[in-house]
Amino acid sequence: MVRCIRVPKAEGNPIRLALKAEDLLDVGARIKADGNDLLIPILSDSFKDYPVEDADLEILEHKETDYRMFLPADIRDILPNSYDCIGDVIVVKIIDELLPYKNAIGDALLKVNSNVRLVLMDGGVKGELRIRELEPIAGTGTSETRHRESGVTMLTDPGRVYFNPRLATERMRVASEVKDGEVIIDMFAGVAPFPMVIAKHAKPEIIYSIDLNHDAYLYMIENIRINKVKNVVPLEGDATVVVKDLPLADRVVMNLPQIAYQFLDVALSKAKKGGVVHLHRIMERATCDAEMESLLDEMRSKGLDCHMGKKYEMKTYSPTASVYVFDIIRD
Ligand SMILES: C[S@@+](CC[C@H](N)C(=O)[O-])C[C@H]1O[C@@H](n2cnc3c(N)ncnc32)[C@H](O)[C@@H]1O
Repeated sequence: MVRCIRVPKAEGNPIRLALKAEDLLDVGARIKADGNDLLIPILSDSFKDYPVEDADLEILEHKETDYRMFLPADIRDILPNSYDCIGDVIVVKIIDELLPYKNAIGDALLKVNSNVRLVLMDGGVKGELRIRELEPIAGTGTSETRHRESGVTMLTDPGRVYFNPRLATERMRVASEVKDGEVIIDMFAGVAPFPMVIAKHAKPEIIYSIDLNHDAYLYMIENIRINKVKNVVPLEGDATVVVKDLPLADRVVMNLPQIAYQFLDVALSKAKKGGVVHLHRIMERATCDAEMESLLDEMRSKGLDCHMGKKYEMKTYSPTASVYVFDIIRD
């Protein structure tokens, strides 16, 4: 039985809203009609002068969606606010202070993500291949997974190749700018998410997809097969060398935010006049415009005429730095 107030139907909605505003509405039970009245479940002993009674109301199952609610209240404030879902695998960063709770955090994440099978603790990205150190903290199976994004399926393994699910919007942004018949080079393609999304949503002539990581190259080949894409060419090797044999491109993607700017001259030398280079770069917010202008001056001094197109701030990297994408146009 649930404690309720009996309210004439005509007054039902304003009273329900008033109860809710005061946190007195019992959301664990369903409001019931009884003749001309409503029986509204309450958390207090009474409300205004409405008659109070115990009634047999349907109990609603509340499904908790915040994993933090399954963990001790005194650590909730320092628990991670976000985590990455890659297919049926979660990758989560955990601060040292929370390491004693790592398995409990994994279990809690599994509870609220019914489509997830494995939770991995992120020990950071290492080396030029940008591979994550990962430790299983809950669930079962290997870290290989199929990730769905923008109508494309990508087989990937966050333990063997870099894959960033947070770039979905940027990938669609680039795809939406591709004109029919473009030649595109992705210099640091990983398992080829940019090429796959572009091939699915635009009509380029060809996309060259390059990565140094042999595993990424093998996943590229598999992803081309899974998505039945015809115009993506997988290439393994150092992009600064591999591009030399490629034709001039309308568009070059450079998604290696720590160091891609060091190879901007290589990318611009492969861009057609009017072509665009999408350069990803981590930069201090206060100095980024000046530093980019001096980088473009350096390019011009090498005979690589270019100018700055659009600039996008993708995400905060540290209190003073962000990850940017700069569209640099070859003149
Ligand atoms: C940030 S990841 C890009 C992942 C992918 N674009 C995505 O959206 O998820 C950078 C990639 O560049 C590759 N890489 C690093 N240095 C390289 C080089 N010199 N030539 C080709 N690929 C390189 C790494 O193996 C890694 O897969």
